[in-house]
Amino acid sequence: MDFSLTEEHLMIQEAARDFARAELLPGVIERDEKQEFPKDQVKQMGELGFLGMMVDPKYGGGGMDTLSYVIAMEEISKIDASASVVMSVNNSLVCWGLEAYGTEEQKEKYLTKLASGESIGAFCLSEPEAGSDATSQKTTAFEKDDHYVLNGTKNWITNGSTADFYLVIAQTHPELKHKGINAFIIEKGWEGFEIGAKEQKLGIRGSDTHSLMFTDVKVPKENRIGEDGFGFKFAMKVLAGGRIGIAAQALGIAAGAYELAKEYSKVRKSFGTEICNHQAIAFKLADMHTQIEAARMLVYKAAKDKDNKENYDLSGAMAKLYASQVAMDTTIEAVQIHGGNGYVKEYHVERLMRDAKITQIYEGTSEIQKIVISRAVLKD
Ligand code: CAA
Repeated sequence: MDFSLTEEHLMIQEAARDFARAELLPGVIERDEKQEFPKDQVKQMGELGFLGMMVDPKYGGGGMDTLSYVIAMEEISKIDASASVVMSVNNSLVCWGLEAYGTEEQKEKYLTKLASGESIGAFCLSEPEAGSDATSQKTTAFEKDDHYVLNGTKNWITNGSTADFYLVIAQTHPELKHKGINAFIIEKGWEGFEIGAKEQKLGIRGSDTHSLMFTDVKVPKENRIGEDGFGFKFAMKVLAGGRIGIAAQALGIAAGAYELAKEYSKVRKSFGTEICNHQAIAFKLADMHTQIEAARMLVYKAAKDKDNKENYDLSGAMAKLYASQVAMDTTIEAVQIHGGNGYVKEYHVERLMRDAKITQIYEGTSEIQKIVISRAVLKD
């Protein structure tokens, strides 16, 4: 497979890198410490077109391919994974889900605002008792006259308080199990919709993660996405693409930590020489470089599969599984190379190490990716 980048890809890479260095790097340590959402920077990301990169320009998006999106995700994640998760959820889950399966009216009303960054989206599948086991939805949406009545609680929702529009998965026909599930578009401010407390997190602390409570929320029928009972398939299809975005985030976290460790090893001296001259450090850098390159190939392959309209369930799951492991391994080594300095905030690598962990958990844990991968390979 040819992974060479076009002029356009290189321009996007440079634009994302410049933005991350100029706008995200200043203040990233403080935002992490205070759990502060990068509000102004997310607004800028919208203005620069990073929040609706793949959406058709007729709905206000950038009309770019998935490869462009993962390239930008990598660059932004090198600096600030809290900002890149906002970008990932908005692009891959919310915008893509609406563009692929929404009605023309839903696209006009919601997608145009989400693609331009005027509004932010959230994807609400996880529940207190339905994380990995996503078919066990307890949130219900029963039909009543011309609307649905939504009741339940969602957990660990990215963009929980900053979103304007929420894609909410709920059970409508419990007797049909996963075939009775639906997906709905909910607006912030609707009666009965409450935003719960903000989670105090280990990593991606700048992103706002909340529980959400729905009590007798009236949802117009035209806000259901797809046919009655399409909700679980919708969630699975959206997550299959989302995993490519999170794989790119993991790749960026790994590459960011590696670049910092490499530079540090060229200036820090011990035993009379720069530490990169010790094989103990040089071999670590060799392993990190190799693993990151392999992860990048998997991420690009999954993105290209999606662009070529081939099945990307398997390649996306493999990219996420591997890149998130590389993110974890690489950031731990980056801290080690920095020694004592790696353990303090100003060198950034301890934050990247904390940020890396979530890539093995959200949008399907590593174990979920192994279920997806093993089922696909055993099917043949
Ligand atoms: N595309 C289309 N359909 C799919 C699909 C896909 N990728 N994957 C599954 N389906 C369909 C199946 O074909 C099946 O349909 P039929 O019954 O009509 O044949 C149906 O969905 C049920 O599939 P399974 O029998 O495989 O279901 P399962 O209970 O065994 O679960 C699973 C499969 C892969 C474990 C799934 O539950 C899963 O992915 N769980 C993890 C959920 C997850 O990723 N949660 C993350 C939360 S979102 C988040 O983190 C966002 C954020 O804020 C950052």
